[in-house]
Amino acid sequence: MRKLQGKVAIVTGSSMGIGADIAKGFATEGASVVVNYPSEKENANKVLDEIAQAGGKAIAVMADISVEADVIRLFEETRKAFGRLDVLVNNAGVYKFAPIEEVTPELFHLHFNINVLGTLLACRQAVKLFGDRGGSIINLASAAIVLNLPTSSVYAASKSAINTITAVLAKELGPRKIRVNSISPGLIDTEGTHAAGFIGSDLETSLAAQTPLGRTGRPSDITPIAVFLASEESGWLTGENLVVSGGLR
Ligand SMILES: NC(=O)c1ccc[n+]([C@@H]2O[C@H](COP(=O)([O-])OP(=O)(O)OC[C@H]3O[C@@H](n4cnc5c(N)ncnc54)[C@H](OP(=O)(O)O)[C@@H]3O)[C@@H](O)[C@H]2O)c1
Repeated sequence: MRKLQGKVAIVTGSSMGIGADIAKGFATEGASVVVNYPSEKENANKVLDEIAQAGGKAIAVMADISVEADVIRLFEETRKAFGRLDVLVNNAGVYKFAPIEEVTPELFHLHFNINVLGTLLACRQAVKLFGDRGGSIINLASAAIVLNLPTSSVYAASKSAINTITAVLAKELGPRKIRVNSISPGLIDTEGTHAAGFIGSDLETSLAAQTPLGRTGRPSDITPIAVFLASEESGWLTGENLVVSGGLR
């Protein structure tokens, strides 16, 4: 029996990076998956093709997670396609580091609208669709919260908010059989971290040197943890933040 057989999962921001890997991993474990992307469908189509070729089931839905009407439509499309929801992964996120002299209201709102408001809106809609069976919400936070990296103030603040949301909603929603947990990855080699210039930088070298397991992470290091948190195997876990960083703290 596959670990997510019969379940329906939405993975926000799953056209690339960690989200794409989680979407594919969930499908491999038997879930029907909603691949969410904000604008360009090309990458989402690649994820759909890979899932289909492996015999899995998925649809793609365009939705900017920071826009309320889009989020409502994302869950409505999910209901129309699959009739239920069991797992929400709040993965869509941005990370733009800036020294304090360069912090602007725009930078703040970009992070808090996508990383924080997007997570809250998606949780709100998920709770309506989970129904009496309950469900599992998995929020992508970040090890940046504990590393306190210079120039990460806006990003790290947004991810600290994610952990607070996880802790509060775990208590608020536990009586409705809805579990809420966070994953805090260390640096992971993704399209996003390449584009941001983290991969190949002195920061990457320094973080790998401080990592007990001695390397930069990969999306495939995160996916099994997400599968675990989505599955009944973690049925007695809620309100937890799993730091998945090869031991980097
Ligand atoms: N990679 C790391 O080192 C690391 C470490 C700790 C935590 N995290 C967290 O893990 C998550 C994924 O990171 P990643 O490195 O995989 O990112 P990534 O490679 O940049 O991929 C991000 C995904 O989110 C989508 N997205 C961006 N804005 C969106 C929006 N407003 N609505 C819907 N989707 C949106 C992107 O689509 P487009 O490309 O089309 O915009 C893309 O599919 C983020 O929350 C990040 O903060 C990452």
